[in-house]
Amino acid sequence: MKSFRTSSVSISILLLACLGAWCNGEGESLVAPMEKTEQHALYSAIQGFVGNWWNGSDLYPDPCGWTPIQGVSCDLYDGFWYVTSLSIGPSHDNSLDCATEVEFRPHLFALKHLKFLSFFSCFVSPRHHPIAIPTENWELLAGSLESLEFRSNPGLIGPTPAIFGDLRKLQSLVLLENGLAGELPSNWGNLFNLKRLVLAGNWFKGQVPDSFGGLSKLLILDLSRNALSGPFTSTFGGLTSLLKLDLSNNELEGEIPREIGNLRNLTLLDLSKNKISGGLTESIQEMCSLEELVLSNNPIGGDLMGIEWHTLQGLTILDLSNTGLKGNVPDSICELKRLRFLGLSGNNLTGELSLKLAALPSLSAIYLNGNNLTGELKFSEWFYGKMGRRFGAWDNPNLCYPNGLISPSHVPFGVQPCKQEVQYGTGLDGSSKLGIGDSNQNSPFISSWGFSSNAVDGLWYVFVVEILVTVLVLNISL
Ligand SMILES: *[C@@H]1O[C@H](CO)[C@@H](O)[C@H](O)[C@H]1NC(C)=O
Ligand SMILES: *[C@@H]1O[C@H](CO)[C@@H](O)[C@H](O)[C@H]1NC(C)=O
Ligand SMILES: *[C@@H]1O[C@H](CO)[C@@H](O)[C@H](O)[C@H]1NC(C)=O
Ligand SMILES: *[C@@H]1O[C@H](CO)[C@@H](O)[C@H](O)[C@H]1NC(C)=O
Repeated sequence: MKSFRTSSVSISILLLACLGAWCNGEGESLVAPMEKTEQHALYSAIQGFVGNWWNGSDLYPDPCGWTPIQGVSCDLYDGFWYVTSLSIGPSHDNSLDCATEVEFRPHLFALKHLKFLSFFSCFVSPRHHPIAIPTENWELLAGSLESLEFRSNPGLIGPTPAIFGDLRKLQSLVLLENGLAGELPSNWGNLFNLKRLVLAGNWFKGQVPDSFGGLSKLLILDLSRNALSGPFTSTFGGLTSLLKLDLSNNELEGEIPREIGNLRNLTLLDLSKNKISGGLTESIQEMCSLEELVLSNNPIGGDLMGIEWHTLQGLTILDLSNTGLKGNVPDSICELKRLRFLGLSGNNLTGELSLKLAALPSLSAIYLNGNNLTGELKFSEWFYGKMGRRFGAWDNPNLCYPNGLISPSHVPFGVQPCKQEVQYGTGLDGSSKLGIGDSNQNSPFISSWGFSSNAVDGLWYVFVVEILVTVLVLNISL
């Protein structure tokens, strides 16, 4: 028995040794081999970013085997290791940090099975060491590259290469918060497999090419925080798979196109801080999956009446602040049962607010400040207590809350008490109170209404109130 075991072990060892020898052709180790050209290309490409002090063959003699490099992944193709993923930049402890002077070496493009390439916070010195994305050789990665990312690289400047348009397998192109500029190449519209295109936080300018409308598999399109201009065209209506469209903080103008209604799966539409005009069009209500609609800070104009808000049952965030809206706040907004945030500040809204707003179960902030709303805010003390300053109604000169029904600690911030019901005589600033039976009725009361005590109106109120107070005091003393 014992001898059998020994022999079987030795046979296995022999077998393994044979396999190893057969696999790498040299018989030195038992690991799957890596072509010398691939290995050298990896070392050299990395060295270009992290600096010449980095000696890959010394530090990581077997980069896909027993000496893995942080940020590098490999896969087997026909029995050989190839690099499939390379991440440069300080995303983990022990990751490949960039030197101050970096270079894209041609070896990078020799990694012929590279699927994922990312640079995070690598090119960080726009003043002293600016660097542009190389314009050549990308076609060598066209058969493999699925994801390309440059994130937080302020030193990465200049235009983006049109040749990216040849990376036909690309599913994700993320150029987020770099120093990139110039116009968006129209041949990026050839990237038919793209699911995510994020170009936010650069200096891109000019129009969004019409060809982008052909990216029908796109799920996420984020072009925010650039200097894109021109009309907000019907192009975007072609992106029928879209889940998120963020074009905020640009200089896009014109109307919201009718075709936007084609985006039935869209959950987020953010057009804030542009120059969109032409009113809220009906096509908005066709985007029936919307959860977040943010159109703030645009000269949109018009009113809230043209939209059947109840069709947007998924809405949780509706921000229409500073959009030049007129007219009333329609009751149908109160049917948006999932609404958490309603921003209508800085408009020209008029009329009275529906009490039904308070019944929205998820509402946690509502801003109506800076309008011209009128009437009495008859919400409950509970509602004001729940909302605090997240009920924003200040800067509506003709709005007031019914005095005396709400304890002073819960009155809506910045709103005046109504003039009509002044039995309790709470002052404008809520500080000067006139209690029943106060020994000195007149002076504190008049001072609390100081703004109107000279006007005929004010005097009339004072007179009526004085009578009321006198009657009350008499009643009590009787
Ligand atoms: C790395 O070090 C080895 C010797 O340890 C040397 O032969 C090789 O040239 C070095 N490679 C680089 C790229 O500096
Ligand atoms: C929208 O989403 C549904 C469900 O997730 C999916 O079946 C449908 O294909 C999507 N529509 C488009 C145009 O992508
Ligand atoms: C409100 O309307 C008035 C008169 O039409 C206009 O002067 C003012 O700028 C508008 N305010 C806002 C915030 O749109
Ligand atoms: C607010 O509305 C009142 C009428 O309700 C109007 O007299 C006043 O001019 C409006 N104020 C502004 C700033 O539009």
